[in-house]
Amino acid sequence: MMHCFATARLPRRPTATVIRIILLVVQPEGAAAALDGMFSTMRDILNPAGKLQAHHRSLAIKVIGAGLGRTGTGSLHAALEILGFRTYHFAEMLKDMAHASTWGDLADGHATADQVIDMMLDSGFNASVDLPSSDLYAEQLKRFPDAKVILSVRDSGDQWANSWRTLMGVAAVMDRPFSLLFPSFLQWMPSMRALRKIRCWFGTGTIGLRKCALAYGYGEHPPEWLQEQYAAHNRRVRASVPAGSLLEFNVKEGWGPLCAFLSVPVPDRPFPRVNDSAFLNRAKMLLYIVCYSWIPCLFLLLYGVVRCCCICPAAKRKSA
Ligand SMILES: *[C@@H]1O[C@H](CO)[C@@H](O)[C@H](O)[C@H]1NC(C)=O
Ligand SMILES: *[C@@H]1O[C@H](CO)[C@@H](O)[C@H](O)[C@H]1NC(C)=O
Repeated sequence: MMHCFATARLPRRPTATVIRIILLVVQPEGAAAALDGMFSTMRDILNPAGKLQAHHRSLAIKVIGAGLGRTGTGSLHAALEILGFRTYHFAEMLKDMAHASTWGDLADGHATADQVIDMMLDSGFNASVDLPSSDLYAEQLKRFPDAKVILSVRDSGDQWANSWRTLMGVAAVMDRPFSLLFPSFLQWMPSMRALRKIRCWFGTGTIGLRKCALAYGYGEHPPEWLQEQYAAHNRRVRASVPAGSLLEFNVKEGWGPLCAFLSVPVPDRPFPRVNDSAFLNRAKMLLYIVCYSWIPCLFLLLYGVVRCCCICPAAKRKSA
């Protein structure tokens, strides 16, 4: 048996190709950190029993992020955490299946905004940024009128639209159903299906878009359409939040305006810069590799088994 597996050698070239692709994805500089981040995200996604750390119920959302995803919300999240706020972000749904499914229920019309807000409070959050919670900025402010609202923005609508396309390019790969041409099992996971529903809900309540338009349908429109939606969202926030409660913030501005607005001292460390465009592109490549690699693996395994069970014994009989 051992002998048979030893002679069923792996073809050399495909192995080298796979290693080269992996090196390409994980580029040497910052490879350890990139791998770490990628694998912990994968672990979160693939672990349906994951739970957010238990926490005392929070009494109020004190800081509401109203900016769309891809407006520096990763950096803003890190900054608010440094300032002591327990801050909600899209990533929380990857860590806790119950959160993903409750947001999915909201997208389906089976849960209310208040139920979602209560879920965030129950998990101890007192600040929220990024989609999907930013699409509930008005509902959060109605319930907590003393909260401060931060509209995170990019340098231009064009810059935002490019960044949005990068993110949704990854989402589109994750959301592709299983087929022989794209043998991915991800859509068989309830958490992945919930995330798709939530992405379809983006912009439906705030900008009045039809379902799935913002996340998946922008390709049907001319390129400037995305920028127009970004502008429409920001216009609505400016028009509906009292000026004294609103800060329009570009993470490039750093601690100054943010700390002044929240009336907290400036921390003794640099403003965090989270750039996940590079991370997202690598994650997409990794997804492709994972999705496609099980087919060659299966064939190699079958080849080994067939060699062991049929070819080797026959050869032995012949030589004996
Ligand atoms: C927000 O929650 C964190 C974690 O519970 C707490 O340490 C912090 O004091 C809270 N911040 C405010 C302003 O309530
Ligand atoms: C983030 O990384 C991408 C790709 O590596 C790069 O093109 C972009 O300029 C970076 N953005 C910022 C704000 O540093």
